[in-house]
Amino acid sequence: MEKPTPPKTIEDLLREERLFQPSEEFQNKANSANPAVYEEAAKDRFKFWEEWAGQLHWFRKWDKTLEWELPDARWFVGGKTNIAYNCLDRHLPKRAQKPAILWEGEPGDQKTLTYEQLFQEVGRFSNALKKLGVCTGDRVTLYMPMVPELAIAMLACARIGAAHSVVFGGFSPEALRGRIDDSQSKIVITADGGWRRGAAIPLKQNVDEAISGDSPVKSVVVVRRTGQAVLMKPGRDFWWHEQVAGQSPRCEAEPVDSEQMLYLLYTSGTTGKPKGIVHTTGGYMVGCYATARWIFDLKEDDIYWCTADIGWVTGHSYVVYGPLLNGATIVMYEGAPNHPENDRFWAIIEKYKVTVFYTAPTAIRTFMKWGESFPQKHNLSSLRLLGSVGEPINPEAWIWYRQIIGAGKCPIVDTWWQTETGHIMIAPLPGITALKPGSATKPFPGIDADVVDEQGNPANSGYLVIKSPWPGMLRGIYGDPERYRSVYWSKYPQWYFTGDGCKKDADGYFWVLGRVDDVLKVSGHRLSTMEIESALVDYTDVAEAAVIGRQDPIKENAVVAFVTVKNGVSATPELGKILKDHVVKKIGSLARPDTILFTSELPKTRSGKIMRRLLRDIAEGRVLGDATTLADPAVVESLKKNYSED
Ligand code: PRX
Repeated sequence: MEKPTPPKTIEDLLREERLFQPSEEFQNKANSANPAVYEEAAKDRFKFWEEWAGQLHWFRKWDKTLEWELPDARWFVGGKTNIAYNCLDRHLPKRAQKPAILWEGEPGDQKTLTYEQLFQEVGRFSNALKKLGVCTGDRVTLYMPMVPELAIAMLACARIGAAHSVVFGGFSPEALRGRIDDSQSKIVITADGGWRRGAAIPLKQNVDEAISGDSPVKSVVVVRRTGQAVLMKPGRDFWWHEQVAGQSPRCEAEPVDSEQMLYLLYTSGTTGKPKGIVHTTGGYMVGCYATARWIFDLKEDDIYWCTADIGWVTGHSYVVYGPLLNGATIVMYEGAPNHPENDRFWAIIEKYKVTVFYTAPTAIRTFMKWGESFPQKHNLSSLRLLGSVGEPINPEAWIWYRQIIGAGKCPIVDTWWQTETGHIMIAPLPGITALKPGSATKPFPGIDADVVDEQGNPANSGYLVIKSPWPGMLRGIYGDPERYRSVYWSKYPQWYFTGDGCKKDADGYFWVLGRVDDVLKVSGHRLSTMEIESALVDYTDVAEAAVIGRQDPIKENAVVAFVTVKNGVSATPELGKILKDHVVKKIGSLARPDTILFTSELPKTRSGKIMRRLLRDIAEGRVLGDATTLADPAVVESLKKNYSED
């Protein structure tokens, strides 16, 4: 494994000494205001999580809180529950008329679903799924735009004990096919299309392509969203509205085992093949419920908006499950932040009187670039709490977020977690924690996180590890227990390895620095260098490819590909364009390389390993690091000479 490459922001981070105390007003009303919770939870983690679990509904109470046989955890063993029941039925009749979802489409259309209505829609679709032959334990792939039907479909799967596998709508048909095949889904839920920056994304057409030829898929359910023309294959394809018509709005929630698989979510690792991260029901539910309640400080009258697409884990845990478990009102928006104008998010906040707003640093930096005039056009005074997720937030963006969006008064909860952790692991408790811009502050009570050096000794700077199991932790990689063990449980035999570099300051605050492996963050999307390299070498003219992430002021990482072509092929700018399109075809537009640099050779060690660190140095224009192990130093010189941005 390579040593962490220090992001440029570290220097700034270490000089960051500003401290923001919670206001007395916030503290007085906070859901969690007693600093003793940290110590109490550390003393008895089980008791802490059991108390949270006890606030939720169990058809049968668990016998044992945790069974831990490294690396396999079982939480709330023997318990029977249902997360959809806890998100819906548990709130009735008290919250029957309370809006659960305030939805806005990109063209400006709107829909409100109260808890009663959401309960009924989920019931109808659960019955429709059953009619299509979906049983407990089946996997269902969801490839949908940000429409209420996506949340309904997830909750319906959970209600009948089937596992959902949501695939982000920006993935290409080929990427979708890989995920459908790996999960062996018999059914796909999609839409004719979805709106993005005024254009209709051809979702159904992508599904047709993804399941052409050999495929496990027997049925496709299609939501009519954009009205664009789609092919409907008789006997295989069904309209959503026709399937739910005439279904009873009632469908009893299936009491499932606490360890029943709730969902699969594919994410990039360091190899070319995405991993199907497995999450189960009971522990995940408890973790999402607790963290949403304390970190977002959810109150009965809050209007909560998390801008993440449900195709990513943030959307699973903090658009759908966490807030609905808390009976909150969520805002859901279908489209782009700059449609029709750069102020769309601020217009939504003003219109729905959003009180809690959760977004990503990439978005915040983009808003900074667009300028203050856009937020200043709107009344954002409803906001009382801001959140950040997905990447390290640089102090400059943090301060801008606080001053310009939060009027200098809203606490910012910078939340560190991963697809694998299921729920937030490191974040402030806004009524207790003094904030430092750029730091996710401290582990949530009951979470045993630490920073250790290469040998596993406690350190101020090193790798972020989790030393004890936590309720929402992944239960494995679907169909690949060996990979699960080797990726997460082999660097340190006793602890979960996060893959992140981290510092801990004198006050015990954590400063997450980013990945130490070959995982990239491109505008908050997680991609692996290997995945993009595989897509490039898949093209006939390419001999070899090496991809690195160059630090980017907005996107965090820009994708830079160094490519060698086969003998006799000319490396023309046209080929560069073709290769970019090829990556889009294989993975999706989120992986399109920003720069492709053709080279006659890649820098390699004598043993033949590509020296990515050197490539990063070249791409970031740094003085070259140690090149003494390089087989042919002339390669670097020529690369340096040829490197130019396109
Ligand atoms: O590197 C860390 C970064 O995002 C990675 C996890 O990516 P993903 O599974 O896509 O989940 C993103 C949403 C939870 C982490 O290993 N990361 C996430 N949140 C933060 C962060 N880095 C710094 N600060 C954060 N708040």
